[in-house]
Amino acid sequence: MSNSSDPSTSGATVPLEQPIKADSGIATGNATATIHPGQVHTVAIEKLTFGGSGLAHIGDLAVFVPSTIPGQKVEIVITKFRGNSAEARVQKILRKAKDEIMPRCQHFHDCGGCQWQNLPYDKQISYKEDIIRETLTHLTPVDEDIRSTLAGRVLKIIPSPQVYHYRNKLELSFGFSSMDTEEKDGKRIYFDNGPTVGFHQPGKWQTVLPISECHLYDEQIGQLLSDVRRFMEETRLPVYNPKTHKGLFRTLLLRRGIHTGEMMIGFVVKARKKELEPIFQHFMRFAGRSGLKSLLVIENMSLNDKPEEPKVHCLAGKPYITERLFDLTFEISPFSFFQTNTLGTEKLYQAIVDGAEITQKDVVLDAYCGMGTIGQYVARFAQKVVGVESHPTAIEDALKSAGKNRIGNISFYKGRMEQVIGDQLSPGGKYQFSVAIVDPPRAGMHPKALAGVLAHKPERLVYVSCNTATFARDLGVILKAGYDLRTVQPVDLFPHTAHIETVAVLQRKA
Ligand SMILES: C[S@@+](CC[C@H](N)C(=O)[O-])C[C@H]1O[C@@H](n2cnc3c(N)ncnc32)[C@H](O)[C@@H]1O
Repeated sequence: MSNSSDPSTSGATVPLEQPIKADSGIATGNATATIHPGQVHTVAIEKLTFGGSGLAHIGDLAVFVPSTIPGQKVEIVITKFRGNSAEARVQKILRKAKDEIMPRCQHFHDCGGCQWQNLPYDKQISYKEDIIRETLTHLTPVDEDIRSTLAGRVLKIIPSPQVYHYRNKLELSFGFSSMDTEEKDGKRIYFDNGPTVGFHQPGKWQTVLPISECHLYDEQIGQLLSDVRRFMEETRLPVYNPKTHKGLFRTLLLRRGIHTGEMMIGFVVKARKKELEPIFQHFMRFAGRSGLKSLLVIENMSLNDKPEEPKVHCLAGKPYITERLFDLTFEISPFSFFQTNTLGTEKLYQAIVDGAEITQKDVVLDAYCGMGTIGQYVARFAQKVVGVESHPTAIEDALKSAGKNRIGNISFYKGRMEQVIGDQLSPGGKYQFSVAIVDPPRAGMHPKALAGVLAHKPERLVYVSCNTATFARDLGVILKAGYDLRTVQPVDLFPHTAHIETVAVLQRKA
């Protein structure tokens, strides 16, 4: 399911897969000398690693093998050799793992969205705990005596309330199930076969896998997707071809408020609004679903699939859907960040509140606040909350919802954390933060943003992370600035995938 844009909003600065055991990735002697891409080996998968691949060894050489689980014996082909580790793809499964189960989804082996559907859920989450412990132990840049204590701070993972159908958002691509090309009179001709809507498989960006089932997204979203398919079959409207830049339908966005039942559909198209209005009148006849509260057409005339400022037109209903978290209501517009597992998010936010121990005296920073969901939840315990977010529509959504939720002690700043914290929110200015909650994208915190937060000397720093490797990097800086790591609470927001969410609580030393 490669279209998923979350939990990241920007690329990680560390490779996704890397040796976690500092001493296990170093190949010595013969294995290194003789390994090269294309070679076939038989290996036993020992454990799972950060990023989701299985780990095996050829002699001393660590080999990362995607789409494998511990206990399997597999025949692999080496695809990359990096000198001290290698990557491989599975050619044949020679022996199943003892606890391996039948994946629910028929697309499991092709789609790439789920890594671990063939593992029982309790095993998946216990492997996630292990990965966090190993990542912190081996990637946190602090002295060995401190590093060796970090694994002991990791608490038992809080499972996702829903193991299947937990996603409230789905992003798909329109495209072709296959694409042939031919050279004619010096020109390349493209034959688009099978216009469809689905996911790009890893490494196959030109074509789209037409999925007929997915067990991650909400079932009502699945019904709406069936409406889109029927609509495409009936109208035969042209699908966009990124090679020729011809065609209409580019991507599709579906969202549902799990507590409210409200649904949004957004068609991203290469066309102007006026060309499309009559077409979508027709769509409304297909999708006469009571939950459909927002029909959007998003103009994208550019070559880029994700333009900076897409033009959003609301053709029916309202330009947002409503969702609740606890007793709070949020209006979600198409491009604002909102956690994709609604019920799991409530567990996550509760872990933040439990760890932050906020009192009525505290002035709380909610950094990377999205639409201000964390800040609005913690505001009831604090004197004041200040949110910072760079995405313009997320900040608009934050202001609107804080008003509707009647929260008087919260303010928001629009801008990049690395600038705002050193400028409008620098220490000695309007606010002195006694508690800082930071929830950065996968890339972790910009060094200036982290330095700016630490300059406030908050008593407690709660670091919410969707990428344990970049968290480990930032943790090193925080520990060296005079903090103790109290706890790391993993919360599973992404069953069947290798994504990991954690809430770390750090206390300033006296
Ligand atoms: C992981 S999301 C967290 C959102 C929010 N805390 C929540 O729980 O829904 C990260 C957020 O950081 C924002 N962001 C990314 N880079 C940023 C930056 N340099 N400064 C401020 N916000 C940023 C993104 O737009 C996104 O809303």
